[in-house]
Amino acid sequence: MLRSRLQGVGSYLPEKILTNKDLAKAVDTTDEWILQRTGIKQRHIAADGEYTSDLATKAAQNALEDCGTALTDIDTIIVATTSPDLTFPSTATIVQEKLGIKQGFAFDIQAACSGFVYALSMADSMIRSGQIRTALVIGAETFSRLVDWEDRRTCVLFGDGAGAVVLKAHEGERGILSSHLFSDGAYCDFLKTTGGPAFNKMVGVVEMNGREVFKQAVGKMAEAVKQCLDQHGLMGHEVDWLIPHQANKRIIDAMGDKLGLKAEQVVVTVDQHANTSAASIPLALDVAVKDGRIKENDLILMEALGAGFTWGSALVRF
Ligand code: UT7
Repeated sequence: MLRSRLQGVGSYLPEKILTNKDLAKAVDTTDEWILQRTGIKQRHIAADGEYTSDLATKAAQNALEDCGTALTDIDTIIVATTSPDLTFPSTATIVQEKLGIKQGFAFDIQAACSGFVYALSMADSMIRSGQIRTALVIGAETFSRLVDWEDRRTCVLFGDGAGAVVLKAHEGERGILSSHLFSDGAYCDFLKTTGGPAFNKMVGVVEMNGREVFKQAVGKMAEAVKQCLDQHGLMGHEVDWLIPHQANKRIIDAMGDKLGLKAEQVVVTVDQHANTSAASIPLALDVAVKDGRIKENDLILMEALGAGFTWGSALVRF
């Protein structure tokens, strides 16, 4: 069976680390509040002049090196991001130029925190239909540029970073087994920016009804996960790893419990990276692959929910 195999993984985090204690000097918050409510200890922040495309390019280079794939083999670059360098052109085309790739096509996907799962699904469909053979799928964000650094309800939650995978057409059992995508625009106002090019010619800052997002997140992601497991006749505890979107440790724990997984089977990076939106899943994947936890043929379940709302899941035989 033709599948999209995850051939290489890579990531990149900006050098600068901002701890909760650093933040508590700037806004009315405490390390205890942030840690207890979210599980976050620190986040990485892009340097001045360091853009989403730079983070994406470095993550992509790591993923390409990881599997020894040549730049000339890449047919498609998809960048999932909500913090593009510019309103246009797409960050993906800027990454294409920075990598020195001359062939194929590149585009962005904007599905907020679900962006990586959406991008993975799109690339998988193109590979299985025969349109392309090799894709670079990147989740990259400089979310620090989208927060109001005086709003303690949101500025403590987010961080910058990028993760990437190289997907290759392959006959066999390994690869993306299925993906399940959802959205419901009725929730548009729950999590959004205060600006946009058409709305007010601004970028805006993040506004979130945290409590409502929290309430919806677990139910909606559980629905996406159930559809995925049902399709394969699997029970939650039969997956080897859960790689959830890293927004809040309490949401991550609730999902792990619902699936009947042991805490060790859930990959958690929210403590170190905070919420990096579309970058959070590929960043967590890279951490767990590089430290030797995730091995060939392991069954990985990914799930995410983000603004829109958008949400989804993907099952991958690594
Ligand atoms: O990635 C996309 C998906 N996003 C998510 O999944 C995020 C989902 N939501 C959450 O993770 C949580 O709702 C938050 C972490 C955002 C907030 O946690 P919470 O337990 O829902 O707190 P809350 O919003 O109900 O706020 C509780 C109190 C409030 O004070 P009052 O009104 O009870 O007096 C806030 O003003 O905590 C206060 N508060 C803070 N205090 C210290 C809010 N932010 C802070 C802060 N430091 N940074």
